[in-house]
Amino acid sequence: MAKKVKVGFIGCGGIAGYHFGHFEKLTDRAQVTAVCDLVDERVKKTADRFKATPYADWREMLAKEKLDAVYVCVEPCAHEKKGTGGMELAAIEKGCHLFVEKPVAMSMAYAKKVQAGLKKNKLINAAGFQDRYQDIAPRMKGWLATKDVAFFNGYWVGGMPGVWWWRRRETSGGQAVEQTIHIFDMARYLFGEVTAVQAFGRRGVIRDVENYDTEDASAVNLQFANGVIGTIYSGCFTKCGGKCGIDIYCKDARLDYTERVGFKAIEPNLTIEMKTGNDYGQEEDDTFIDAILDGDQSLVLSPYSEAVRDLQVVLAANESMDNGGKVVALK
Ligand SMILES: NC(=O)c1ccc[n+]([C@@H]2O[C@H](COP(=O)([O-])OP(=O)(O)OC[C@H]3O[C@@H](n4cnc5c(N)ncnc54)[C@H](O)[C@@H]3O)[C@@H](O)[C@H]2O)c1
Repeated sequence: MAKKVKVGFIGCGGIAGYHFGHFEKLTDRAQVTAVCDLVDERVKKTADRFKATPYADWREMLAKEKLDAVYVCVEPCAHEKKGTGGMELAAIEKGCHLFVEKPVAMSMAYAKKVQAGLKKNKLINAAGFQDRYQDIAPRMKGWLATKDVAFFNGYWVGGMPGVWWWRRRETSGGQAVEQTIHIFDMARYLFGEVTAVQAFGRRGVIRDVENYDTEDASAVNLQFANGVIGTIYSGCFTKCGGKCGIDIYCKDARLDYTERVGFKAIEPNLTIEMKTGNDYGQEEDDTFIDAILDGDQSLVLSPYSEAVRDLQVVLAANESMDNGGKVVALK
């Protein structure tokens, strides 16, 4: 029988459920053999679903199980709790390939340590930026490569997620870090590296949520190495018709991308419209497992190193917001 990749999960909450659905279709190549969560009910339910061994402590899971790969699906503040040394670093020490949900950390120092560990140990790695796996992504990128892009407007405007940790900057990082990072990642996928960040955030729109201290709205200006400029907006104050995507303005052309839905590219005598047509989330997990089986990191479209660059941009946005909109130059 062909080898199956043995996978352990740290975190069995919302996004883990998304991956679990994919693993049910990956049974020819992978098996979820161990699962861990602090919430007893969640871990039991998941263990039953996969006939996996349940754990309340990820250190115990890593010590007792022989895992090929670990998925880290915990809230942003939980990756490197004080005194634990960090989940990713412990998994790397055990020689496990690593899939980490975005945002991959709350500090650049920790993210860089993990990145260095993955490189040193030649481990296959991926981060949870599934939008890169949409069939339309290379089509947009190819079309834009033939155009002179001037600037863009990106946005993630919607309601406030229900998870407890979302409402405080110290546990989620705030909306740009936790949520709109998908739009920052797509902007980097399309336009390349960011060289400078400048941002403003505001409060006062939301007045009916307790224990809440992140920005209600923010605008982040970006400058890219190739000369493109753009602004990415975040807002978590509306329940009536949010909007997520990027509008890109080029010389004699325009492209409107609606996140996970499709795009419309307009030229003087031609309009191209394409809907996202593939199960990009399934492809994200299929690709990670195939990369492990083939020993080929180049298959992965969203490696950990890309997530670290995204993190640098959104943390710079927070730094700018907290300092009256100062310009933060990125190296
Ligand atoms: N890629 C995407 O589109 C996407 C979508 C949603 C969430 N996410 C990301 O996934 C992460 C988790 O989000 P979520 O919505 O699943 O949150 P969640 O609160 O539903 O789940 C997180 C789980 O991690 C568990 N956990 C925390 N610390 C732990 C520890 N030390 N040991 C074991 N388990 C622990 C919690 O008990 C919880 O069950 C966040 O970083 C979020 O940004 C990504």
